Amino acid sequence: MTAPTIRPRRLRTSPAMRRLVRETRVHPAQLVLPMFLREGLRDPQPISSMPGVVQHSEASFRAALQRAAGAGVGGVMLFGVPAERDAQGSGAIDPEGVLNRAIRIAQEEVGDALVVQADLCLDEFTDHGHCGVLDVHGRVDNDATLMQYQRMAVAQAEAGAPLLGLSGMMDGQTAAVREALDAHGFADVALLAYSAKYATALYGPFREAVDSQLQGDRRTYQLDPGNGREGLREAELDELEAADIVMVKPATFYLDVLAEIAAAARVPVWAYQVSGEYAMLEAAAGNGWIDRRRAVLESLTAIRRAGADAILTYHAVEAANWIKEDG
Ligand code: PBG
Repeated sequence: MTAPTIRPRRLRTSPAMRRLVRETRVHPAQLVLPMFLREGLRDPQPISSMPGVVQHSEASFRAALQRAAGAGVGGVMLFGVPAERDAQGSGAIDPEGVLNRAIRIAQEEVGDALVVQADLCLDEFTDHGHCGVLDVHGRVDNDATLMQYQRMAVAQAEAGAPLLGLSGMMDGQTAAVREALDAHGFADVALLAYSAKYATALYGPFREAVDSQLQGDRRTYQLDPGNGREGLREAELDELEAADIVMVKPATFYLDVLAEIAAAARVPVWAYQVSGEYAMLEAAAGNGWIDRRRAVLESLTAIRRAGADAILTYHAVEAANWIKEDG
């Protein structure tokens, strides 16, 4: 037997060597924290399927925003949980609606330190829980929904959000929202398109987080988990419709789609590590079956390695603090 001359292990010999040759790093500024503000809440309310995540009261929301800014995360993605809902999702357009109030509060607290982002979708505001308005047959009406999204976008821009997250998966939503913003003097407000958003089981805990009223599912508008090429097509369309950033969601079950979009896109590509991914990590770690800190950081590294420039994750603040600790 001849001794090997090629020895990949040489570059693994010491922590210093491993640190030097590491290809992929996660920086706190690449992490975005999703947050929930619930209307009329006195004390923050735990979300049982997402240990450590809460529906915020206004006071706890302000404090959490400060913690996020202190940890150096790049941004926050805001969701509102309204006290009342209707068929059209009117609360999304009301300047005093909970999400538009959340934007104002966040801009005031941390608007100079990080990028305040708002979820642009109707599902939290409709009494039927769908991401759009329904036609007379009870189907989600794509083009009528676009008009609501346009009004919602203008309300969010007026509240001060510099980046809007289009998560509704209606055809033409990016172009429609861009047009409305430009017509109202908001040409500088940027759009994050949830381009490849899959109809996944992993949004389960989020439904609890926003008190979702949904009966049925979102399979007529979100992508089928079997389709990779369709994700690429959606990202391409969003770029053509002037999306400033495109996104893949969920993240870890869709790393192949993420890698392909990252190779093809000419705009930043982000990924959303969703509620079910958070819940799986927390459940296994909570049982002592995996090392929580290592697993969380490894999952974020994997998402970056596949091609994400930034990641939305419920672990954002904790991960940012760990990354700083690790130097
Ligand atoms: C739509 C929206 C959803 C999520 C983010 N934006 C829910 C859905 O499409 O069903 C899910 C995020 C998560 O699961 O963490 N408002």
